Amino acid sequence: MAGVTSTWTEPSNTPLTLLLLGKGTDPASERGVDCPGDLPAPSDPDLVARATAAKAALGDRVFVLGHHYQRDEVIQFADVTGDSFKLAQQAAARPDAEFIVFCGVHFMAESADILTQPSQRVILPDLAAGCSMADMAVLGQVETAWEHFQDLGIVDQIVPVTYMNSSADIKGFVGRNSGVVCTSSNAKRALDWSFEQGSKVFFLPDQHLGRNTAVLEMGFELDDCVLYDPHKPNGGLTDEQLINARMILWRGHCSVHGRFTIDSVREVRERVPGVNVLVHPECRHEVVRAADQVGSTEYIIRALDAAPAGSAWAVGTELNLVRRLALAHPDKQVMFLDRTVCYCSTMNRIDLPHLVWTLEELVAGRVPNVITVDEKTAHDARIALDQMLALP
Ligand code: 13P
Ligand code: SF4
Repeated sequence: MAGVTSTWTEPSNTPLTLLLLGKGTDPASERGVDCPGDLPAPSDPDLVARATAAKAALGDRVFVLGHHYQRDEVIQFADVTGDSFKLAQQAAARPDAEFIVFCGVHFMAESADILTQPSQRVILPDLAAGCSMADMAVLGQVETAWEHFQDLGIVDQIVPVTYMNSSADIKGFVGRNSGVVCTSSNAKRALDWSFEQGSKVFFLPDQHLGRNTAVLEMGFELDDCVLYDPHKPNGGLTDEQLINARMILWRGHCSVHGRFTIDSVREVRERVPGVNVLVHPECRHEVVRAADQVGSTEYIIRALDAAPAGSAWAVGTELNLVRRLALAHPDKQVMFLDRTVCYCSTMNRIDLPHLVWTLEELVAGRVPNVITVDEKTAHDARIALDQMLALP
């Protein structure tokens, strides 16, 4: 990918309303609105001992999942760590565990609830750990877009595909309309399958993963992709644009990965000759084009494990993971692609006090912060998730 000149630029000046975190401004969105009250103080020196004791007391009754972007203080208590695909698989792999404590964000816990047994309870230690990308696609907006595609007579050609980073409502919509969920580790396989079912894909909610996969991995042109802006009438697109498009991309993005720029890539190449630039596919198209490698968090971890001693790597993904990788590979030079980009603030809401509170509540016989997806939505979303798990 290095050396290819990009012709794509982000359209400017489109207002994208972001919701206030944890304020209940959109109770229908995937983001939680309540926070627990009686947390231990973050300065409590006994937090590690308290978490260890509570987890031991619960034994096999509890299974703790940790996404790679979680803080070190939390990840040390995870029974399994992974990207969103691996964690979705793992959630279903322990049907005997009474409680699944999900150290990640709200949409991941929803997927875990859908994929686990009815008797199991999935717990998110802080209900305000949402995802700004998932919040960018609200069911009503997506249904409005779909009705417009129906009016245009193109809906039968379209397969809806949603990134795992979306609410259960959106996954349900996709399942009802014979589509599939994908993650950053199987997006190409999901698109290959979708283009066997229809001639167009409606990709939600991450425009960058959709565009990067279609153009860089499947041979589509940038002109085959159009950007549907839910804040504009008819998505801001003409009928002709929608009729001609192969990929209709929802205007959503990750607020963390979207901040890496082409300048970060140029700057690190000048500063560190021979550096390998390795980025997540949620990054902007021009950043991914300028990188040497692109892949999900699991891919990034494997690439660094396989890298020779002495090699230099600038990694464009969430900072908790990059810091951990730098510590795990002292024989390699592992650096963050852009020093102005910070942690995912919602992933970081799950901290040790929230984990201790959660585990101690369970020991005391109370079950806090249970994430439950209603049966109808869960049924429809499971169709799209199962389709993903069955991808060749
Ligand atoms: P993956 O876990 O699929 O790499 O996605 C990254 C991410 O942004 C999770 O919120
Ligand atoms: Fe959402 Fe991006 Fe944070 Fe992942 S890293 S939870 S996509 S905001």
